[in-house]
Amino acid sequence: MTAPKRLFIRTYGCQMNVYDSDRMADVLRPLGYALADRPDDADLVVVNTCHIREHASEKVYSELGRLRDVKLERRAAGRDLTIAVAGCVAQAEGEEIVKRQPAVDIVVGPQAYHRLPELLAEAARKQAVLRAGKRLPGAGVLDTDFPADSKFDHLPGPQGVRAGSAFLSIQEGCDKFCTFCVVPYTRGSEYSRPAAAVLAEARQLVAAGAIEITLLGQNVNAYHGEARDGSTWSLARLIRELAEVEGVARIRYTTSHPRDMDDELIAAHGAVPQLMPYLHLPVQSGSDRILEAMNRRHGRDLFLSIVERLRNVRPDLALSSDFIVGFPGESDADFDDTMRLIDQVGLAAAFSFKYSRRPGTPGSAMPDQVPEAVKTARLAALQALIAEQSRAFNASKAGQTVPVLFAEPGRRPGQIIGKTPWLQSVHADGPPRLIGRIVDVRLTAAHPNSLAGEVALVDDRAEAA
Ligand code: 5AD
Ligand code: SF4
Repeated sequence: MTAPKRLFIRTYGCQMNVYDSDRMADVLRPLGYALADRPDDADLVVVNTCHIREHASEKVYSELGRLRDVKLERRAAGRDLTIAVAGCVAQAEGEEIVKRQPAVDIVVGPQAYHRLPELLAEAARKQAVLRAGKRLPGAGVLDTDFPADSKFDHLPGPQGVRAGSAFLSIQEGCDKFCTFCVVPYTRGSEYSRPAAAVLAEARQLVAAGAIEITLLGQNVNAYHGEARDGSTWSLARLIRELAEVEGVARIRYTTSHPRDMDDELIAAHGAVPQLMPYLHLPVQSGSDRILEAMNRRHGRDLFLSIVERLRNVRPDLALSSDFIVGFPGESDADFDDTMRLIDQVGLAAAFSFKYSRRPGTPGSAMPDQVPEAVKTARLAALQALIAEQSRAFNASKAGQTVPVLFAEPGRRPGQIIGKTPWLQSVHADGPPRLIGRIVDVRLTAAHPNSLAGEVALVDDRAEAA
């Protein structure tokens, strides 16, 4: 009998990576890998990397240095540790990773996770040859191809339902080529999964306990999946069909591009009750000049009109967005345009970043790079405005009774934490059996990043009936 093997996955970056990490665990489970809590307990460590932000690769290399030390200690004790690097840094750097950190056994790009078992077997063969004292041309095993067939056809069905919530990846890659962004280079061109495969996975997720499904894609609303009858389904169509799957109580999707918010999708926000009244719609800047330089393919007016149309069909829609400050050439007036846009829209939340040069993207070669101190000041001003808006948004819900999907125990004993339809965190006193269920909660107090609530009476008999 073989001893059980342990797998530790460190995940950086977006929800796509969280989803991919779950899929990697699924692929490896049949090989006997159970999840470990710490890298020190693992036989295989996968570092699932993100390339979007500054110093991403440097952080990965320093983590790999630490893992190399664990590997050396292990070897001294007669065991081994296999190190795999996955995700966008793996895709972008490829062989360079093994050159810089020879302790790495496997480099696997986001399109090749289904090949992990083969890559592991190949790495084990190489390790055996090395242990026998023979020389090899290169120790690491690499797969960073963009294959024509989809990894989705090869990955096992999902098991990653956590407390009633699940992610479902429906689209990958991006053809937009915003001038600051590495995604089109690291994740490749846009690909939509066939609609039937998505719905089948949704049914599996529901059978495994999901009541909330978040559809994922780098550019999710560009979805154009092939349907059984040969037609093409838009995201709106997919959402309408998903809402028909029995047991699906909440639907979300992320991340969207303003250019792909078509009439049908806007209408779905008014027509599909399960589609939650919260939309993450990155705008990046409020200045037409900067939007143009970013190659966003829309101006501020189009964004504002999309927001207006969405709110016409769904008045309680909460919005969040992404912002980049200090894109090359951004003047004080451009930044003011961004601040005015935020004022005009009113956001529930936002992610904001200082522009960072990503090698190989057009933005990194643009003149008029903005000094660091200016970026720092702009980011602080923008974040202060967003914080004020989040606080106001949370306060606007205090006193209301709203459905909360409880997701996890809180820090205090007897406390549970969940999410409102508007993705706000709520903590309340309640029994753990409510985790994974949607329960009415009276919101009693608003904090900057969360709300306190009291669970309304839960009628278990009604639910059991
Ligand atoms: N610099 C700063 N922020 C970036 N983002 C993407 N690329 C960069 C970059 N080079 C931000 C964008 C995007 C989010 C996921 O990350 O705001 O929407
Ligand atoms: Fe990157 Fe732009 Fe594509 Fe979003 S739409 S993934 S920011 S290139």
